[in-house]
Amino acid sequence: MKEAIANKGLFINRETEDKIQKLIDAMTLDEKVGQMTQSKILPKNALKEQWERIPEDQRKARKNEFDLLNNETLQDKIIQGKIGSVIIKVRGSKVTNELQRIAVEKSRLGIPLIFASDVLHGFRTIFPICLAESSSWEPELLEDTAAISAREAASCGEHWIFAPVVDIARDSRWARCVEGFGEDVFLSSVYAAARIKGYQRNDWEGRPHVVACPKHFAAYGACEAGIDYTAADMSEHTLREVYLPPFKAAFDAGAGTVMISFNELNGIPATANEFLVKRILKTEWGFQGVTVSDHSAIAELIEFGYTENLRTAAKKAAEAGVDMDMSSGTYLAELADLVRDGSISEDIINESVRRILRVKFGLGLFDNPYVDENLENEILLHKEHLDLALKAARKSIVLLKNEENLLPLKKNKGTIAVIGPYIDEKRELLGNWSTNGREQDVVTIIDGIRKKAGSSMNILCAKGCSLYDKEMDSVKTLDSVTRGDYISASSVGVLADDEKEIQKAVALAKQADVAVVFLGEGLLYSVEASFRMTQELPQNHQRLLRSIYETGTPVVLVLINGRPLSIPWEAEHIPAIIEAWQLGTQAGNAIADVLFGDFNPSGKLPITFPKHIRQQPIYYAYKKIGRMQYRYYDPQYPFGYGLSYTDFEYTNLMLSSARIEASQTIKVSAEIKNTGDREGEEIVQIYIQDICASIIRPIKELRGFQKIFLLPGESKTAEFFLGKDQLGFYNESNEYVVEPGEFKVWIGPNSSEGLEGKFEVITGCRQ
Ligand code: NOJ
Repeated sequence: MKEAIANKGLFINRETEDKIQKLIDAMTLDEKVGQMTQSKILPKNALKEQWERIPEDQRKARKNEFDLLNNETLQDKIIQGKIGSVIIKVRGSKVTNELQRIAVEKSRLGIPLIFASDVLHGFRTIFPICLAESSSWEPELLEDTAAISAREAASCGEHWIFAPVVDIARDSRWARCVEGFGEDVFLSSVYAAARIKGYQRNDWEGRPHVVACPKHFAAYGACEAGIDYTAADMSEHTLREVYLPPFKAAFDAGAGTVMISFNELNGIPATANEFLVKRILKTEWGFQGVTVSDHSAIAELIEFGYTENLRTAAKKAAEAGVDMDMSSGTYLAELADLVRDGSISEDIINESVRRILRVKFGLGLFDNPYVDENLENEILLHKEHLDLALKAARKSIVLLKNEENLLPLKKNKGTIAVIGPYIDEKRELLGNWSTNGREQDVVTIIDGIRKKAGSSMNILCAKGCSLYDKEMDSVKTLDSVTRGDYISASSVGVLADDEKEIQKAVALAKQADVAVVFLGEGLLYSVEASFRMTQELPQNHQRLLRSIYETGTPVVLVLINGRPLSIPWEAEHIPAIIEAWQLGTQAGNAIADVLFGDFNPSGKLPITFPKHIRQQPIYYAYKKIGRMQYRYYDPQYPFGYGLSYTDFEYTNLMLSSARIEASQTIKVSAEIKNTGDREGEEIVQIYIQDICASIIRPIKELRGFQKIFLLPGESKTAEFFLGKDQLGFYNESNEYVVEPGEFKVWIGPNSSEGLEGKFEVITGCRQ
């Protein structure tokens, strides 16, 4: 356990370093490059389909990639020591053990493979999508769900998890905001650390462990206008202040690897960006783990127009500090020759191999390369995992509106109409990156509701309309959405069939005491490379909702979506609205618990909901501007917002002092009272504003939060401490400083409300 990657990073002792050195000494140059090469095991025909999608004129440049990914020759390459890692797309311990046996028993040096995969929010037990779980504001929960995900993955022989996504997303047009923790630097950093601790908990002995891989380094979420893969152009100040801190938090928590992003940063692709990888990550931060490119990104340096050929691409990426080539085959084809002809130093190769071997030793792969094939049956979907999935799903739900306490519904009388294309859905509830989740394990919405209220209520159901409306014509199945596909919004309209379904649903709504309508945005709009022109509900969903509303039956709207939606009409007219995201395996049970009041919702939004897509990029921590500030941030629902079935009152803001020195801390507290008639949890938030500084500061910045549980009538004091780590910023010379001057402070229920105070920092400091 000494050498395991267990929360505090790579514990490699002297003895292991010596073993690594001996191994490096024994390796041929080609074997070294082999360790730096990652291949993939793909489902049948997947490679052929991928190949056919590549435009003819790009095929020559990408041939290496396809040779590398050819499963038919994978075994030979492993025997020849040409592959150090495999991404597993075909799951199970049989597959991993079989490949591992070839590496360990048939390759010359017997170096085990490290198996990797994307396990973002669960493996077989699927937890809520990351943006949803982020609404819990419960880092311990995110740590636990990561630990269970890792345990399930490890039971299938997987060791390297390509997660968490710690990209800050300030523009929710970016479809991949679904994968991360939202818009806020502080919240995302706390979660980044929690996820790393969870994935790398490694609390079983004698079995291979798991290493996490925060991604995508860096500034991937800052793509222009939310269009995936486009440039991130920003000052070093913004990079350091907004986009890097969650990564730093992940490394401080012991992350053993990192994935380099697809985007370019200020003109240099991250994959070849020495400033980012070599200078900041490896030198300034002293990161000792492995850097891996994103998929085929080294070969794509040519498509960027950054290098003319694969040879230069390999050289630039290796020199920038990218240790492993994910799937492009460029290192395998070019690196050894580059060393042989003196174009690149072998020291660079040795250093990358050392890092890779450290991780393999750290995971215990040399001692325990295989996994017990009986384990997965025992581990996957374990009862405790399902219980945790239910807990996470409940805590991810955000109550957005509840006029005249329409919710919770009473389960002992009357007729309820359950309407919408999601009520019987499974795949949509699993969310993006849940490739190992199975539809058969998902509790549907209608099943959850029937289980809860079926014996006491009359339940009427109608689909109401199709899930995707006409704008989705270009996308036929989930499988057809891959990188590069463009989802056209040119032919928006309502299908004729939808009209009939709408009329059926209206007829049912008229007979009911309440209509609960499940609408949202399809999963295909919250995946890599996806792009939609709008953030509204699809037109057929809107038409269905308005028709139900016009019946006069009270309507509860439940949203199922992977990213913020703009719902101005709905927010004005529909009396009760729940944000239920894509909640995973236990979605139906969790939603029913909240609808009928068996669970009091406590989630708060980790990302702003705009009124209109034209407000993008919209985020609460925008910088102060010279005029008309009040117009800028006018969201539908602000960051940090969420209601409960009870009410909380904030009073008595207290500051321990009116003035402090930067070396001191100030205590800020407030009293929170549950003024309603049922128990509940409240997420109390503290924000600051540095009123005047040498570089323009945000209007508000989250600096802490606490989740408190209150019985009816109970009060508690929430206390926060602010010191130099909370009050500083990066100045013009990119030094972290606290400057003297006045600060505003708020304690409140979200980023738009709160009790306001003021204090002064009388002397500054730098770190
Ligand atoms: C591309 C994605 O950007 C990345 O997040 C993922 O880990 C790799 N593909 C591997 O699946």
